[in-house]
Amino acid sequence: MKFDIRKTISEMTLNEKASLVNGAAFFEMFEIERLEVPALMLLDGGTGINFEQLFGDFYSKAEHTDGSVGNSLITRVIENYYHPEVLNDEEKALYDRIREYLLTLTGSDYSPSCFPSGILLGATFEPEVVYEMGASLGKEARLFGINILLGTPNINIHRDPLGGRLFEGFSEEPYLVSRLAPELVKGVQKMGVAANIKHFAANNQETNRVGINETISKRALQEIYLPGFKACVTEGRAKTVMSAYNLINGVPCSENKWLLTDTLRGEWGYDGMVVSDWGAVYHPVEALSAGNDLAMPGPVSGKPIVDAVEKGELPVEVLDLAVERLLRTIDFCKNNKDAYIPEVREKMYEETTKAAYEAASAGIVMLKNKNGTYPLSNGTDITITGSGAEKIVPCGTGSAGVNTDRTSVLAEALNRTLTDSSVKVNRFIDENAINSGENIIYIAVIGGMEGNDRRDMLLSSEDGENLARLCALKNTCDFKLTLVLNVCGPVDISEYEEKLDAVFVCFLPGMEGANALGDIMTGVRYPSGKLPITFPKHYEDTPTFLNFPGEGKEVNYGEGIYVGYRYYEKKKIKPAYYFGFGLGYTTFEITDLTLDAHEFEHEINGHVTVRNTGEREGAEVVQIYISDPVSTLPKPVKELKYFEKVKLEAGESRRIDFTLKERDFASFDPQHDMWLAEEGYYDIIAASSADPDDEHQRARVYLKNRNQYSYGIDSTVKVLYENSELHKLLLKFWTDNGWDRQVVETNYQYTPSRLLSEIFPSEPSGDSVDAFLRAVEKVRHL
Ligand code: BGC
Repeated sequence: MKFDIRKTISEMTLNEKASLVNGAAFFEMFEIERLEVPALMLLDGGTGINFEQLFGDFYSKAEHTDGSVGNSLITRVIENYYHPEVLNDEEKALYDRIREYLLTLTGSDYSPSCFPSGILLGATFEPEVVYEMGASLGKEARLFGINILLGTPNINIHRDPLGGRLFEGFSEEPYLVSRLAPELVKGVQKMGVAANIKHFAANNQETNRVGINETISKRALQEIYLPGFKACVTEGRAKTVMSAYNLINGVPCSENKWLLTDTLRGEWGYDGMVVSDWGAVYHPVEALSAGNDLAMPGPVSGKPIVDAVEKGELPVEVLDLAVERLLRTIDFCKNNKDAYIPEVREKMYEETTKAAYEAASAGIVMLKNKNGTYPLSNGTDITITGSGAEKIVPCGTGSAGVNTDRTSVLAEALNRTLTDSSVKVNRFIDENAINSGENIIYIAVIGGMEGNDRRDMLLSSEDGENLARLCALKNTCDFKLTLVLNVCGPVDISEYEEKLDAVFVCFLPGMEGANALGDIMTGVRYPSGKLPITFPKHYEDTPTFLNFPGEGKEVNYGEGIYVGYRYYEKKKIKPAYYFGFGLGYTTFEITDLTLDAHEFEHEINGHVTVRNTGEREGAEVVQIYISDPVSTLPKPVKELKYFEKVKLEAGESRRIDFTLKERDFASFDPQHDMWLAEEGYYDIIAASSADPDDEHQRARVYLKNRNQYSYGIDSTVKVLYENSELHKLLLKFWTDNGWDRQVVETNYQYTPSRLLSEIFPSEPSGDSVDAFLRAVEKVRHL
């Protein structure tokens, strides 16, 4: 069935239109049977299909509740779905109905996959594994009859380490997000499921998340908070966008015309639909007018919309436009003829398991490996301890939570390879039973939680105390101590660090996380993840320390563009581990940084050579940063503009080519309200992390460019005065016009920020202006 969208709209009544732009159930849109407009199901699934929501939706429809999905009966059934034997008769009856319903969708029992969280995906620096994970999500969404998969992905920037949903997002670095996130979108949509990017925009905290008013500079929005969304729209071609709960500079995102219409549609050319976050529409008519097409959740009455149209307060064309966008999405979901049909479920199980494993093994980061403790050799005795000893926590809670019985176990993964080792598991270790030479693997857990920001950056008191005890024991006992951070974000481990032989960060790694970690620890795989967020030494060091989570319902993004490494490097505050850092089992050399010109206008090509200088295979992420040594706008010391993960055998080398475009050199200038790349010298840096100590090569290049920054009569007096060549030309220009030099000298004292043209004593002669412009154009920008 293909819609004739215009015809369908013309046949719809006002009531039907107003109903379509509002949810009909908690996770469902409105159905118009007579026009064959089906109800789409929207369900969360950034890390896997959210069964809690699926069951809740089924329950609310079956029981005709008002759409609320939480009660203790359904909760018991969800929590024990994989252990029905513990349910009482009433619960078992509901369980049977839900299972029967699922079987109508899937044919036989199928548990959803739990994939790694966004923060681990960020750590992969591998677009391909993100794509494969997206495709797997899409397949399972098809299987369960979900049309719009919410949070695929959540790409809100890692602004503050304590953000409750930080783990859902990919990174502090907008360029990394922009390269990875569109791949997830493409993977999901390849399967005929509409992806959904959220939360648009700048949804960076849980404290007062509904209604918090964020004061954010235009520049920070453009450079930090919007690029990931833009990439998902322009490259990923995402079909749906979710408007966020928060307000930006006083305007709720769901009612923000600048955001939803001028930027998203006007500038980025988006033609999909905007769905509100659940309960984020505060004023239905204002939201619709601003470009928010669907208010969720339902059921919600369309009456305010009908009334507004009838009173002439809302042009029906605005409603029609929203309906048109919704129908386009419905059309896509119902006519995905090229898309994968989930016919062979056995294969799907295998494919999704593989995708989860590959992503986890690409994203697990090794931060420390003293004296080659890893990979472990066969025969090493191991005790796994800590709050995650029995189970590595695979995902956070809330919309990104997944309820499944698909899992992996670290001890089993280690045992598979270390056939001569003893592997014990004990959450609380008996200190007297530690053997000399043993490797104690301490798994510390900090689970991520929607709705709740973390209180501090410390380990839990249980893990903190037990780990400290083990560290102290190292003074008298000869064993190796490994810390595995099974966490939702950065942690302050400064107290223990010196005593640790090895540190791994597995974040919330999904159902295959323990298998991937075990294989990395035993050398079946090598670690190749890199931190997608800087780990500060202490929370007080963070750029947002004084501005998070704000005061009441107000938060000031006072750090501006200085998020993550942009801040630490500028302020020369040494973090524990920089963005982009991660070790492998080998070493690399990055040499031969070559650019194809010394000077360029539109783009410049370059290359480096990466060589594996160690004894084992491994992967390096070559990171290309741009630094602007002298600039009109204040800028970070450097910014990431390209990366590539290179897998190499021992001794192997490869040339990596890259192209940098003029836009990569630009910053958003709030005064001119546009992106501008200033003429002048730039340094291109090839590095293995953002840490200044990890810079391998640097080359200087000159960008020739005429724009608002070019020297001329609209330069500021200060710019002309502070360059000796320009100063001379300015004085000549003054004399040519017969003006008293005193004017410009005096004016400098009072008005260095004024434009030259603003202080002309009279109209200058045309010839003198031409001569001045020709002369200043020749002066090089430093
Ligand atoms: C969350 C969204 C989620 C929605 C639907 C909201 O509370 O903020 O991320 O997609 O609920 O579950």
